Amino acid sequence: MTSNNTILVTGGAGYIGSHTCVELLQAGFDLVVVDNFSNSKPEALQRVMQITGREFACYAVDITHTEALSQVFTDHPIDAVVHFAGLKAVGESCAKPAWYYRNNVYGTQVLTEVMAEHHVKRLVFSSSATVYGEPKSVPITEDFPLSATNPYGRSKWFIESMLSDFVDADRLQHANQPWQISVLRYFNPIGAHKSGLIGEDPKDIPNNLMPYISQVAVGKLKQLSVFGDDYPTHDGTGVRDYIHVVDLAKGHVKALEKLFNQAQETTDWQAYNLGTGQGYSVLDLVKTFIEVTGQDIPYQIAPRRPGDIAICYADPTKAWRELGWQAQLDLTAMLADTWRWQSSNPDGYA
Ligand code: NAD
Ligand code: UFG
Repeated sequence: MTSNNTILVTGGAGYIGSHTCVELLQAGFDLVVVDNFSNSKPEALQRVMQITGREFACYAVDITHTEALSQVFTDHPIDAVVHFAGLKAVGESCAKPAWYYRNNVYGTQVLTEVMAEHHVKRLVFSSSATVYGEPKSVPITEDFPLSATNPYGRSKWFIESMLSDFVDADRLQHANQPWQISVLRYFNPIGAHKSGLIGEDPKDIPNNLMPYISQVAVGKLKQLSVFGDDYPTHDGTGVRDYIHVVDLAKGHVKALEKLFNQAQETTDWQAYNLGTGQGYSVLDLVKTFIEVTGQDIPYQIAPRRPGDIAICYADPTKAWRELGWQAQLDLTAMLADTWRWQSSNPDGYA
């Protein structure tokens, strides 16, 4: 496919951003990336270029810096933005809430102001299943009530609400060039590009299950703590909707294509669940990882982690119906690709 459209990717050096850059380049889009590298390394972008054989402009810019960000829009003919830049650690957000609101909420406010000044009003935003708080049932559809259990989740919820207000205002004022916004609510992204060149590279000891397991497998961590075995699930451990990061990345291409295919005067705000619709427990993940990779994963049962919910999985049919997107890669592929990345890059991009 060819496209003459240029996409600004904020946070493009990060885990999901780097995989999405690959898919966007392979779909024919031109790219510009801004990232402050607070949780990533420029090497990730070099590897995106290596995988795709394509080059693009990269800026070490913080999205809260209006002038620097505005200069990027002056220098490039941006047609749409895919916005990943933000902080994502739940525990850290409880310790430093102001830092999270500044980076995530204020950062998005600056970004959207700069976009509007430069007449760019197509936006794909990284939201999270965390906006469903403690869902009343599963599978979760997009019209479930939203809530939050921590400042990180609240920052995503606030941003979603702010973006929806922009669309309402444009609708009321019959704006000539209104906002067109796609909010993607990710479930649990894991896996890595099949080349083994890019993947998840947590800065400190991982908080999330998949990178923790893969660091135990590679010998960097001793054993996994399984947080709780008394949940009302098939084996007592927490159930999540794990989705391959490459499938997730492809969801962004589909969301952008929809924005480009609709008339410029149509205002729109839509939220889409990006998940597989299938839940796996912590022990399902551990056992399948051992089967797929042949690596041993020592684990112990530990107390529940405060704030965790028992079960969370998506109903992804809206994304299929409206974007023509559905996840293709199964748990075996997710785990094999994670291990290829981790075993060939034991110290990440370092
Ligand atoms: P990541 O930390 O790997 O990527 C985020 C990128 O944004 C990093 O490269 C970081 O350096 C950059 N960044 C952070 N603050 C910035 C700022 N102020 N200016 C410029 N760049 C900045 O995280 P990820 O896993 O790739 O997540 C991407 C997005 O998806 C985030 O918004 C996250 O909240 C959201 N999300 C992630 C998950 C997940 O489990 N990984 C789940 C749901 C939603
Ligand atoms: N878990 C363990 N041991 C660990 C880490 C996690 O047993 O060392 C368990 C958790 O208790 C949970 C499951 O593994 O049952 C998944 O935990 P993660 O931390 O990997 O993922 P969460 O579902 O808790 O949260 C993640 C992101 C959130 C995001 C959410 C939905 O961290 O920011 O997915 O997208 F909102």
